[in-house]
Amino acid sequence: MVNKESKIYIAGHRGMVGSAIRRKLEQEGYRNLIFRTSGELDLRDQGAVRSWFAEQQPDVVIDAAARVGGIMANNEYPWQFLYDNLQIQNNLIAAAHETGVDKFIFLGSSCIYPKHADQPLKEDYLLTGPLEPTNQWYAIAKITGVKMVKALRLQYDRHYVSLMPTNLYGPNDNFDLKTSHVLPAMIRKFHEAKEKGHAAVQLWGTGSPRREFLHVNDVADVVFFALNHEMKYDLYNVGTGKDITIKNLALLIQNIVGHKGEIKWDTSKPDGTPRKLMDVSRMQEAGWRYHIELEEGIRATYQWFQEHQDQIKEVKVEE
Ligand SMILES: NC(=O)c1ccc[n+]([C@@H]2O[C@H](COP(=O)([O-])OP(=O)(O)OC[C@H]3O[C@@H](n4cnc5c(N)ncnc54)[C@H](OP(=O)(O)O)[C@@H]3O)[C@@H](O)[C@H]2O)c1
Repeated sequence: MVNKESKIYIAGHRGMVGSAIRRKLEQEGYRNLIFRTSGELDLRDQGAVRSWFAEQQPDVVIDAAARVGGIMANNEYPWQFLYDNLQIQNNLIAAAHETGVDKFIFLGSSCIYPKHADQPLKEDYLLTGPLEPTNQWYAIAKITGVKMVKALRLQYDRHYVSLMPTNLYGPNDNFDLKTSHVLPAMIRKFHEAKEKGHAAVQLWGTGSPRREFLHVNDVADVVFFALNHEMKYDLYNVGTGKDITIKNLALLIQNIVGHKGEIKWDTSKPDGTPRKLMDVSRMQEAGWRYHIELEEGIRATYQWFQEHQDQIKEVKVEE
């Protein structure tokens, strides 16, 4: 079992998810956390990852390192989204297995499920139909990670588990409009439009798709839960089980930000999957449920955005 002295490697500790996990584990009194930035250890480099694991011998690995982005970035950089994510997870999972890591938590996303799967999405719907084309590169990499975790459980009885969170938001999110997801992009657009005297805000698509959102502190909480419980299945959805239309999300954020101008919908831009709602019953049965409601979470995130505007990261995909 994991204890406060266990050597826990958080891969991607500076990212939105990894930093939330780090905060949570530090708060809970875990004293032996280890990290490397991508500059110090490029997780695409198999030799470097192998020798670092051999030297460090972690007990637990949490994989929150990935090439992450919205529709535009996925469309423009299929190679990076496929190759980088495959390399990162292959190297981490294989090195963990080879060095006898007890517990591995693999984080993916709800885009692993087929575009037209029944809603809400159950874990069993994996590989039952074609993927959403705009993020297929990322999704195929993540599906491979899920299967690697499953193969190691089946063949070697490893306590490795895949957690698939829905759309996330919160502190350290990516607010760079070229690569960001819908919720942080809206926060930034409404904020900047308010600053410009309540200028009109243009948003992508029709506003009709429905999406589910989870605060990243709840992901940190579920990771903490998974570290401390025997996880019966290889794969768990993580979400709230509730969704909202993009249009209503825009109105909620507009209200929280205090923008009073017009919203224009650019219907020449893609909507993506019509609906993406997670069935979270498997995780609920395991004993975990989310805590942070959407409005409360967006208010906190907007406050974080205002306090950290100087630290908003510009994300370069081609490196
Ligand atoms: N954001 C979401 O809405 C969302 C939703 C569901 C699931 N997830 C999952 O959560 C995980 C983390 O996402 P995130 O939103 O936290 O992403 P993020 O903020 O972009 O952070 C990703 C982290 O990965 C690290 N990384 C990327 N390429 C690397 C490389 N070649 N070598 C070493 N480290 C590398 C980066 O490290 P450096 O900072 O050191 O460069 C960065 O800290 C992903 O697996 C994603 O699928 C995210």
